Amino acid sequence: MTPHTGLGHAVAKIILFGEHSVVYGYPAIALPLRSLRMTARAEPFDDPNRRTTLTSLGWSGPMTEAPAHFASILRAVAVATEFAGRPDAGIDISTHSEFPAQRGLGSSAAAAGAVIRAILDAYDVPATPQEIFHLTQEAERIAHGRPSGLDAMATSANAPVHFQAGTTTELDFALEAWIVIADSGIQGSTRETVGNVRSLYETSPETTRAALARLGSITEEAVDDLRAGNIAPVGAKMTQAHGLLAGLGVSNAPLDALVAAALEAGALGAKLTGGGGGGCVIALASTREEAQRVEAALIAAGARATWLHAPSAGEVAA
Ligand code: MEV
Repeated sequence: MTPHTGLGHAVAKIILFGEHSVVYGYPAIALPLRSLRMTARAEPFDDPNRRTTLTSLGWSGPMTEAPAHFASILRAVAVATEFAGRPDAGIDISTHSEFPAQRGLGSSAAAAGAVIRAILDAYDVPATPQEIFHLTQEAERIAHGRPSGLDAMATSANAPVHFQAGTTTELDFALEAWIVIADSGIQGSTRETVGNVRSLYETSPETTRAALARLGSITEEAVDDLRAGNIAPVGAKMTQAHGLLAGLGVSNAPLDALVAAALEAGALGAKLTGGGGGGCVIALASTREEAQRVEAALIAAGARATWLHAPSAGEVAA
């Protein structure tokens, strides 16, 4: 079939429990935010004198001149064109995101996943979800070093997922609660925070191992709470997880301040989400009104952007 404009998309995600400990084989729970989309477009051309271009995050130009932070997208293009049997393809790639990058919302995995799907679509090459996951992981290795695979999985999921050591299970629960997501406005580098936890693991193995194991058991206990619809204990465990993550050095003063503001405003619990070192916090509230109160408190405490997510409806409102 003749190559044509290809489209691909993926979504933002939040990690409810288990960031960082998931890298060490413990379980994690992540929720796809299906209404915060990342879209990619791939336009093949066959003029050998034209250069392949990238348009993404306000930057546009020849792919060979793309700044270093686009390295994982470039890897996504390379693995997808290789998979499609067109390693030397001339192609213009663009991405459009409805959520900010480097805020723990899975932007790098979502961009890679969307670009890979767009390229495969352009060449009408079928791929299984597992093949797309492996291609996305290739790009994620550039972004994160040794990604657990949680982001690649959650940014293409249709439902909340339980993820452990490469195995994903869809979680069937109806959480009658609201999640407030607040962006600190500070960029966080997952590669850096994952590296810092690794160093801590080497210098203080016992305490670090104990904290990671506790994060793992909190996650498992939270699965039971979620299934039983017990939201207050879920909230308490979120706050507990934040304390453990802070102990691992992946929080910072602005994130701690946002968590404190959410709790002060009556949230059932709050924590950082994703790699940390910046990025977002999430807070749990039992009703929309409570969520709006928490949201207002987070804005007053310096949040740059907020979203309300009702897991039972799968929707996010800006
Ligand atoms: C980043 O969103 C999640 C981390 O656990 C890293 C990973 O799972 O690869 C921090």
